[in-house]
Amino acid sequence: MAPALSDILRLTSSLLVLLLLMFCMGAINLEAQVRRLAPDEVGALLEVATQLGKKGWNRNMELCNDTKLPPKPDADNKVVCNCSFPGEACHVVAIYLKRQDLDGTLPKAIEKLPHLKQLDLWANYLSGKIPPEWANTKLEYLSIGVNN
Ligand SMILES: *[C@@H]1O[C@H](CO)[C@@H](O)[C@H](O)[C@H]1NC(C)=O
Ligand SMILES: *[C@@H]1O[C@H](CO)[C@@H](O)[C@H](O)[C@H]1NC(C)=O
Repeated sequence: MAPALSDILRLTSSLLVLLLLMFCMGAINLEAQVRRLAPDEVGALLEVATQLGKKGWNRNMELCNDTKLPPKPDADNKVVCNCSFPGEACHVVAIYLKRQDLDGTLPKAIEKLPHLKQLDLWANYLSGKIPPEWANTKLEYLSIGVNN
């Protein structure tokens, strides 16, 4: 007996759903891989946080908030990463921590973020001199006004 048309349709549609599901899972996986921050920059970012007195970041969280530069001018409490380096991990390109009540020091560890271009620490309680290590960075934009 030939299979009924409705059976064939049902089989085809469940195959399609399965394919769609596999595609979605693959895509999600791919995105997770593409967006992963380079491991040594995770360490560097946590070191920066310690020096700044910034609480709440840890190794197990997704530290990149955004992948677009520049974000809104009032960007705050944001780490921007660039994930467009072909075949590579994401790299930190900007840190915005305005008005975060940070009471640490100007973080010398940013020299360990080789792709960092923008650093905004406006209006905190940070102290210390500009670390000589900052001369080794690729910083193009720096805002450290209204601090101690
Ligand atoms: C950015 O990510 C950090 C860590 O996940 C989080 O604490 C913070 O609230 C995020 N900021 C924004 C503006 O999404
Ligand atoms: C991200 O990196 C790519 C490759 O180096 C570069 O072409 C692009 O302009 C960068 N984008 C941002 C937002 O920095």
